[in-house]
Amino acid sequence: MTRDSAATSVNTVLAELFAAAAHGCRDRSPLTQRLLNDAAEDLRLGGVTARIMAGSERDREGSVPGLRFAGAVHRLVLEGRAPELAKHYPSVGGQPHLPTLWEDALPALKAHADLLRYRIGATVVQTNEPGRSAPLYGGLMVAAQEAAKAANRHVPFCVRLLEVGASGGLNLRPHHVGYRLDDGTVLGDPDSLLVLDAEWTGRPPADLGHRLRVVGRAGCDLNPVDVSTEDGRLHLSSFVWADQLGRWNRLRDALDLAATDPVKVDRSAGPEWLAKQLARVERDVLTVVWHSVVWQYVSPADRAMGRAVLADAAAKATPTTPLALLVFEPRRADDTYRFELLLKLWPAGISLNLGYGEGHGTPFTWNVTPWE
Ligand SMILES: C[S@@+](CC[C@H](N)C(=O)[O-])C[C@H]1O[C@@H](n2cnc3c(N)ncnc32)[C@H](O)[C@@H]1O
Repeated sequence: MTRDSAATSVNTVLAELFAAAAHGCRDRSPLTQRLLNDAAEDLRLGGVTARIMAGSERDREGSVPGLRFAGAVHRLVLEGRAPELAKHYPSVGGQPHLPTLWEDALPALKAHADLLRYRIGATVVQTNEPGRSAPLYGGLMVAAQEAAKAANRHVPFCVRLLEVGASGGLNLRPHHVGYRLDDGTVLGDPDSLLVLDAEWTGRPPADLGHRLRVVGRAGCDLNPVDVSTEDGRLHLSSFVWADQLGRWNRLRDALDLAATDPVKVDRSAGPEWLAKQLARVERDVLTVVWHSVVWQYVSPADRAMGRAVLADAAAKATPTTPLALLVFEPRRADDTYRFELLLKLWPAGISLNLGYGEGHGTPFTWNVTPWE
């Protein structure tokens, strides 16, 4: 095989990954779908996209090179480096016109090919969905009250929240977010900079009149994003599809809220970090280990170690130092996936499936069944 034909064949493989990523955006982001389909075609023809993706051609499918490309291009737009393209991007006030998208993208792709290549090679797809605070809030209300009932207390426990895979930590302040219900009531903090439309069907099985008291929170991530920096904020923003304005506005509000209430996310793999956090026991506080949309990315070794760390802490939990595991993760249901909220409590021995919702946390249906 000649050098040229080898290059053509790797670009063809990459083009297929771009096309698959485009397919994943269908019905949700016509802008990203079109950009990726046009870029796939450009890859097949050996155009500027091939130059930009040089060095990333053999990346594995799970690293989603297409979404890294789309994120890097969005970032150029957010930075004001792609004026022709910006007019298609609702995140900066534009309006997509798909037939001319690619010709308007080309000047920026050509002018910033080296920067794009560097960024695409140096980054992983990184999102942090503040909408997941809504199921988290409801789940914490249930956990704090069920743990209290099991310990014969009248007042719900205060909570220490430990998040594994926290990304930028945007879900580490669930008590400072407002949750608007369909009857107009706002749970949590109605004056918050971030008020989510919870879009709940049903209600959490808890007295929602109580206040959620969070007395400690900490998070870790293999690739934490520091949202106190412009770079961190741009990084997270670039991976929100630019024509999903609801998500875009939600992220912007969550970043504003984070600026008023900073929480550092530690750089660490989950199990080691959790072992250290759980070694410290606080009396009269419910410790809650939380993760959302993380499990699929965790290596088998880390999964096994994480389970062992949690089992060890669960065995030591007492009615005055209870422990909870609360997760919002995709689970296979028939031939599709749905995102379920699961709760385990120790030493109460409670294990509940609290309901299911969209991957971004809203809408959500509360429907309590045993967690087998
Ligand atoms: C899809 S993001 C979800 C982020 C956040 N939990 C949310 O719901 O918005 C998955 C996160 O898990 C992190 N992650 C993957 N494996 C991890 C591990 N073994 N330990 C800690 N974090 C991990 C990734 O770096 C990434 O930030």
